[in-house]
Formats: sequence, structure tokens, C-alpha cells
Amino acid sequence: MNALLEVEDLTVRLPVAGELRTVLRDVSFSLAEGRTLGLVGESGSGKSMTVRTVARLLPDGAEVAGRVRFDGADVFDLRAEALRAYRAKDVAMVFQDARAHTNPVRTIGDFLTEAMRLNDRMPKAVARGRARELLAEVGISDPERRLRQYPHELSGGLLQRVMIAAAVAARPRLVLADEPTTALDVTTQAEVMGLLRRMQREYGMAMLFITHDLELAGAVCDETIVLYAGRVMERQPSTRLHEDPLHPYTAALVRARPEIGRRVERLPAIAGHPTTAYEAPDGCAFTPRCGFAEDRCAEGAPPLLRVGEGLTGCVRMPGLRGRLLSSAPTATTAASATAAASDEEVQR
Ligand SMILES: Nc1ncnc2c1ncn2[C@@H]1O[C@H](COP(=O)(O)OP(=O)(O)OP(=O)(O)O)[C@@H](O)[C@H]1O
Ligand SMILES: [Mg+2]
Repeated sequence: MNALLEVEDLTVRLPVAGELRTVLRDVSFSLAEGRTLGLVGESGSGKSMTVRTVARLLPDGAEVAGRVRFDGADVFDLRAEALRAYRAKDVAMVFQDARAHTNPVRTIGDFLTEAMRLNDRMPKAVARGRARELLAEVGISDPERRLRQYPHELSGGLLQRVMIAAAVAARPRLVLADEPTTALDVTTQAEVMGLLRRMQREYGMAMLFITHDLELAGAVCDETIVLYAGRVMERQPSTRLHEDPLHPYTAALVRARPEIGRRVERLPAIAGHPTTAYEAPDGCAFTPRCGFAEDRCAEGAPPLLRVGEGLTGCVRMPGLRGRLLSSAPTATTAASATAAASDEEVQR
């Protein structure tokens, strides 16, 4: 299968308080046409930065090394007109907070027809007809009335449907979905997710799907990447992540996940504090929180190693394979072991 999106050794630095801070480091992955790739990881791990880099929507002053290729073309080489076309036609974004991405003083009709009138130079009446069709397609009844309404008159679920309608309007080849259902209640989450999946299938779109919910990633994504401190920890077919994690970090996430069927706002904490990419030590960034760490884990940047159907950044693989969930010293016991060790030191 041809890769639609190829990300290669991507390192991104952003200016903070007069210096450049690393937010992504050596991130590589590819996504084939029509497939779904999940991005999971704790808050601050770089999920949103990854999709923003793919859409070339980085803050001013960002420094980017490595490559992002869409359909063979380097996204960071695109000049003004080609970049505009890329964002308008090739990729579309769906965000967590739909309300924050609409203008409160413009109607749903204005919102939906703006891009069609601007990019496709559609006459107003034609664009409005198309907007009505799109609303019907995403399951919104009485489209004519909805077109005249303002964002605050729609529920969160309805507004997210409108965002999906806007996203698929140009028939993009890639949808970048950044926690599209996190802000919604459980029933609405399922409906909106179902809609996104149906749209994806009908139009054959590829999707980069960000979630903090491993269960959801398992249900929605063909493969999932686990990010930590701006680096790829592992990549696997999504269902394998739960059964046979290839990285102690993933295993810690699997152990910390809520029971099936319960959705949460954020992944429950695992022992220790998440590191930012900027503060991450040399070697594997998870080393300070890892119950399996050895001295060599702190040395050099770990390459991604192929194990089975997946890739792992754990240098102790494949030796640890199959042991991470069962006989594992948990991150909690590792942390208490460290605490016990320092108690001992105090006593001595
Ligand atoms: N505009 C910015 N300038 C500087 N640093 C930023 C900026 N936006 C995000 N960061 C930093 O980049 C890192 C990655 O952030 P990102 O938003 O990608 O995390 P995330 O995985 O999407 O987290 P969450 O689950 O909370 O959405 C974090 O350390 C964050 O503080
Ligand atoms: Mg985010």
C-alpha cells in the first residue's frame, strides 16, 4: 500500500521565554490511503503538535527538522498557493472543542459556505444548497433552519457534526482528528464517532486520530502510536497494544486504563511525573518511571526496533516481550522501591 503521509525524523522546537524548546523528537511514521492511525499518550506528550506539524500550523518561530511528505510532496516546501490548496483540499481537521473553532457571530450557513465560496468560487445559492446536503449527510434534520442558527444555539454534539460536515466538504484525503469526542457525553461520543467512521469509509479518507483513550484507539484505529515526551515509544496494530505491549510505558498505560465502557477525560496517572520532551533525559525518556530500566536505557537515543508486527523504542525488547503485563514490577512498585531506597539512605 502506498503511503499517503510520511513523517520522517521529525523534530520540532518552539520558542518559549526566549529559547527554543523541543516538543517532538525524531518522530517517524507513515499512514496509507484510507487507513486510520491512532496517537495516544499522556497530556503534553506531543499528540496535538504532531497533527499541527502535519497541517503546517505551527506557532511563529517554530524550528522544524526532518520531513513531512503528503502524497510524495514535502509539506514544508509548499509555497503559498500550494500550501493553501493542501490545507483546503487535501487535509481537514476536526478538533476537540468545536465551539472554540467557530465564530460566535457568524451563522452555521456562513461557516459552511465560506470555504466553498472562497476555494471553489461557488455562487451563494449553490453553496447553500451544498451546505444543506452536507448537514443532511451528517444526520442533522431541518438543515434550512440550522443554516440560519448561530453556534451557541446548537448542542456540543450537533456542533461537532457541523464540524465534520465542514471537514469532509472538500473530500479531503486525510482527516486530522484531535480528540474529536472528548468534550461530549458518552452517548453523543458514540454517535459522533460512528458518523466520523461512516464518512471516512464512504469517502475513503485516511485519518490520524488522537485520543487519550486506549480502548477507543483499539476500536477505531488500524494501528496506534504511543507517544511519550515527544517521542515514539511504540507502534502496533491497535488491538495488539492491549494484549502484547512492546514498551513498559504502554504496559503502564494499559494497566492504568479504566474499565471497559468507562470513558474518562484523561488517562489515569501512572507513578511518577510525565516528562516534557524539553526536560527528557538522554536515552529512553521513560527511564526514570520505568520498573524495567537498566543502566543502558539511559544511554543514547533508542532506535525503533521491529518486533513482531510492531516497532518499539525499548532497548530491552524483545527479551521482555510477554512479561510487561504479567510478572511486571509495576511503575508504582518501582516508585516505592526508589522511595524505600532513599528511606534506607536517610536511615544510614
Ligand atoms: N504554543 C506553544 N509554545 C510552546 N510550547 C508548546 C506550545 N503548545 C504546546 N507546547 C508544548 O508542547 C508539548 C506538547 O504539547 P501537545 O499540545 O502536543 O500535547 P498533547 O499530547 O496534545 O497533550 P493533551 O493531551 O494535553 O492535549 C507540551 O510540552 C506543551 O507544553
Ligand atoms: Mg492535545
